[in-house]
Amino acid sequence: MNKINVLFVCLGNICRSPMAEGIFKNIVKKEGLEKYFSIDSAGTSRYHIDEDPDHRATGTCAEKNIILNHKGREFVEKDLINQHVILAMDKDNLANIKKLITPEIERLESKSEIFLMRDFDSEHTGANVPDPYYGGQEGFYQVFDMLERSSYELLSYIRRKHSI
Ligand code: 4NP
Repeated sequence: MNKINVLFVCLGNICRSPMAEGIFKNIVKKEGLEKYFSIDSAGTSRYHIDEDPDHRATGTCAEKNIILNHKGREFVEKDLINQHVILAMDKDNLANIKKLITPEIERLESKSEIFLMRDFDSEHTGANVPDPYYGGQEGFYQVFDMLERSSYELLSYIRRKHSI
């Protein structure tokens, strides 16, 4: 069976989306579903290409025994073809992703499904995952909780859709 490619997207790819990648990977592993998935993250900017995640993102996840292992990369047009499910952290990221959709991609039946991450959060469905970069540690804890809640629901959605 081909893997289901899941991509989490934010602006810098050093805070929200690598946290989402790590949290979702952790849940998938706990459920014994790793063989079905390829999970990655990317940023709509080029600010932090090849950089490690922000130490606050790494630290927040480490407190929950989730190790982040990612180097910043840019979201590119090819992702709209190669990824099955794309999760934008906020509405600006979503708009930037959608700007890359060409008429050719639009016509493809196999194009990515694109959502806001918090479309899967039963608390404040469809809200932004706020950018914690310029704030304090508390913001990272709040982001973690939003991402964890959303990740469980996202996994349920994918399992239903792909019968796994
Ligand atoms: P992220 O946070 O999009 O969650 O990775 C940010 C990180 C860096 C910047 C903005 C947001 N920046 O402007 O450098």
